Amino acid sequence: MTAVADTKPFVPYAPTPRATPAGRLQGLWLLARNPIESWTQAHYTQPILAGESPLFGYAVVVNHPPAIRRVLVDNAANYEKDPLQLRILKTGSSGGEGLFTATGDAWKRTRRTLSPLFTPRRVATFAGLMQNNAEARVDRWLKRRPGAILEIDREMTGVTYDILSTTLFSDAIAKDSTGFERALMQYLDAIGRVDPLDVFNAPAWLPRIASFRARAPLAFFTQTMMRIVEERQALIARDNASAPDDLLTALLRASDPETGIGLSTEDVIANLLTFIVAGHETTSRALTWTLYLLSQSPEWRARAEAEAANASPDPANWLDEMHTIRAVFEEAMRLYPPAPVLTREAQDFDRLGETNVPKGALVIISPWILHRHKLLWTQPEAFMPERFLPGARDAIDRFAYLPFGGGARVCIGARFAMLEAVIVLATILRRTRLTLVAGEEPKPLQRITLRPQGRLAMQVHKIG
Ligand code: HEM
Repeated sequence: MTAVADTKPFVPYAPTPRATPAGRLQGLWLLARNPIESWTQAHYTQPILAGESPLFGYAVVVNHPPAIRRVLVDNAANYEKDPLQLRILKTGSSGGEGLFTATGDAWKRTRRTLSPLFTPRRVATFAGLMQNNAEARVDRWLKRRPGAILEIDREMTGVTYDILSTTLFSDAIAKDSTGFERALMQYLDAIGRVDPLDVFNAPAWLPRIASFRARAPLAFFTQTMMRIVEERQALIARDNASAPDDLLTALLRASDPETGIGLSTEDVIANLLTFIVAGHETTSRALTWTLYLLSQSPEWRARAEAEAANASPDPANWLDEMHTIRAVFEEAMRLYPPAPVLTREAQDFDRLGETNVPKGALVIISPWILHRHKLLWTQPEAFMPERFLPGARDAIDRFAYLPFGGGARVCIGARFAMLEAVIVLATILRRTRLTLVAGEEPKPLQRITLRPQGRLAMQVHKIG
C-alpha cells in the first residue's frame, strides 16, 4: 500500500468495470472496439480469476504479484508467448526473426546478441541526440503564435520517431523521411487491431485484413531498410572506423558472446523493425498521457517545471537526477500502461497459488488491471506521482507494476525509453506550458498500445 497525497489528487476518466462478463458476440465486439471495456469488477478485486472464456478457451487472469513472479520468472519455461500474440505481432514479419516474437533457443541467442546495445552506458551515449530532437520540436512550437493549438499525440509520435530514426540510422533515412514516417503510421495502424480470424484460431493461410493493409507499408520498409543496411555494410567493409556510432552499426557488428556468430541481414532488418514497432508508439503514448496528466495537476506541473528549470548540463544524467519528472512519468505509465496486456500459454499443468492452470491455458497479465487493482494500490484511480518518489517506490512490489514486463523477457529498451522520456519531458517543461483545450478530455483506447481516442489538443504557451 502506498502513501496518500495531501491535496485532492486528479482522477482521470476510466471505463466503468462491467458487473458481469460479456458473452461471446459482445466479447468479440468489445475486443474489436476497445478491449479494456471488457474487464469486470471482479478482475479489479480478485487476485486470480480462472475459467472457460467465450473467446480464448480456458483463461487465467493473474493479478497476484507472487503468481506473476511464478509466470514470468520462477517457472517461466512453462509460460511461452502465446500463438495469438505471436500471430498478431508477426503480421509484420519480413522473413527474419525479431527479438519480440522469437522463442526458444532463437530468442536466447538474439537476446544475448542484442543486450550489449542497451546497457545503461550505451544508452547514455544517445542522450545528446534525444535532447537535440526534443529542442528542435519545441523550437517549432514556439515559432507559432502564443496559445497555438497542437495535436499533442501527433507531436509525441513525431518527436519519438525523430529520436528513433536518428539513434537507429543517424541520417540514413533523411531522404526518405516523410515516406518512411507515413508508411510507419499506416503499418502500426494496420497491425494494431485484433483480427477475428486470429481469435478463432483460423489457419494461418487465411488472409487477415491486418496483413492485407500492412503489406504495402511493410514492403516499403523492407526495401528502404535493405538499401540502408547494404549501404552501411559496404561502408563498414570499406572503412570500418568511419561508420556512424548508431544502433544500425551496433546491430551489424553485434555477435553472440557464446558462439561469436552475428545476425543475418534478414535478422538485422527484422530487429530494426522490432525496435521501431516496440519502441516508438509505446514511448509516444506514455509521453502523451504524461503531458495530459500534468495539465490537470497544477501542483505536480509546478514541481516538474521547477526540476526541469534546474537541470544539470549533461542530459545523460537527467534520468538519475530528475526524481520528480521520473515519478510523474512512472505514475502516468501506471494509469495508462502503454502495453496494457501481456499473454502467455501454459506448456504444461501448473498451479498458481490455489488455482489450477491446465496445459494450453491462456495466462493473461494485464498491467491495465494490475496497476488499478484494489488490493494493491491506495486510491488506484488517482494520479499520485508521490508513489514513485525515492523511498516510497521501494514499497511497490516488483510484480505489481509492470509497464516494461518482467523476467527474462523484460523490455530490452526500458532504459532507453526512460531516458528518452525524461529528456523529452524536461525539455518541454523548461520552455513551455501545455494546457488542455476545453472539452478534449481523452478516453483510453486499447489497440496494441493504450492511446487516447481521437486527438489530444493542447495549447502551447512559452515560459521562461
Ligand atoms: C515506454 C516505452 C516502452 C514500453 C512501455 C515497453 C513495454 C514492453 C513490454 C511490456 C515488453 C514485454 C512484453 C512481454 O513480456 O510480453 C517489451 C518487450 C520488448 N521491448 Fe519494449 N517497451 C518500451 C520501449 C521500448 C523501446 C524504446 C525499445 C527498443 C528500442 C523496445 C524494445 C522491446 C523489445 C525488443 C522487446 C522484446 C524483448 C524480449 O522478448 O526479449 N521497447 N516492451
